[in-house]
Amino acid sequence: MITTSGLTKVYRSRGREVTALDGVDLHVREGEVYGVIGQSGAGKSSLIRCVNLLERPTAGTVTVAGQDLTALAGRGPRAGKELRQARSRIGMVFQHFNLLSTRTVQDNVELPLEILGRSGKERSAKALELLDLVGLADKAKSYPAQLSGGQKQRVGIARALAGDPKVLLSDEATSALDPETTRSILQLLRDLNRQLGLTVLLITHEMDVVKSICDSAALMEAGRIVESGTVSELLATPGSELAAALFPVTGERSAEDRTVLDVTFQGEAATQPVISQLSRTYNIDISILGAAIDTVGGLQVGRMRIELPGRYEDNVVPVGFLREQGLQIDVVEGTEPIKEGAR
Ligand SMILES: Nc1ncnc2c1ncn2[C@@H]1O[C@H](COP(=O)(O)OP(=O)(O)OP(=O)(O)O)[C@@H](O)[C@H]1O
Ligand SMILES: [Mg+2]
Repeated sequence: MITTSGLTKVYRSRGREVTALDGVDLHVREGEVYGVIGQSGAGKSSLIRCVNLLERPTAGTVTVAGQDLTALAGRGPRAGKELRQARSRIGMVFQHFNLLSTRTVQDNVELPLEILGRSGKERSAKALELLDLVGLADKAKSYPAQLSGGQKQRVGIARALAGDPKVLLSDEATSALDPETTRSILQLLRDLNRQLGLTVLLITHEMDVVKSICDSAALMEAGRIVESGTVSELLATPGSELAAALFPVTGERSAEDRTVLDVTFQGEAATQPVISQLSRTYNIDISILGAAIDTVGGLQVGRMRIELPGRYEDNVVPVGFLREQGLQIDVVEGTEPIKEGAR
């Protein structure tokens, strides 16, 4: 639904150059909620602004719903109308809502429809329908200043939906909100995703946002995507930073000469019988340092941190046994095998 390839953005100001995006290949499937997470300055906002061509990419292409937006933008003023139309099929939700304070809630939602040249009657019907959808039917005549943060963001979402978009982009939509309100806004985005079949690309620096509503996620660092995939793929990737952050499990090793392993399972698989089987087969005492079961991206995930006696070299066979049972095994740092060449 959204594909970027080799997307690059270099800002030039007063002789200085900043490479905010450094060849980003992103692929968001139709109907999914896709989260991009990264630290401040990683290039997240630049990415989302390039996806809807609010910012002109320096190089690379952006395709949304089969349409190459970068090609449209490159064709000069006459393609402007086409680009505006394509853009109206992409809704955008902002961190600070960006509502016009002198307009009522309804008039704020009508704004994109005015730009598209729709009649007054059509605009008003659509705005009221959308306000109802986001749970603000009774606030149509209020002004933004009379609303709470969460209500303002609902207006922002209703406005983003005015052009019947296929795609919704959200840049830190919940980071100005308290945790309770954040949950309700995320739930609303999830509901819209399901009800309207809306594809959602959201940017956040909060892992909890990814955890609660994303089907897929990407980690951005210094203008590049360093990890990406469905939640399930990430959890199955050895050493995935995103998986560890999405699903943390803690527990300290009890002594130097121990091997600590994180065992991850998804869906049906059960760890407990495998662990006791391991213990019996190899006659070793296994301690459980920590364990958790949670739902990530709608998927049941369990993780257990276990400790085996002896160093990693002594445990190659038991580790192999666990992997053969289809469990994801990550060796926790400090007990990793010594890399060849490193002394
Ligand atoms: N208009 C601009 N002109 C020059 N440099 C810019 C501009 N916008 C962003 N940058 C720079 O590009 C880099 C990426 O910025 P961007 O806003 O995309 O990061 P971000 O991941 O959204 O960060 P945050 O989490 O703080 O919002 C930063 O180094 C930033 O200073
Ligand atoms: Mg940003």
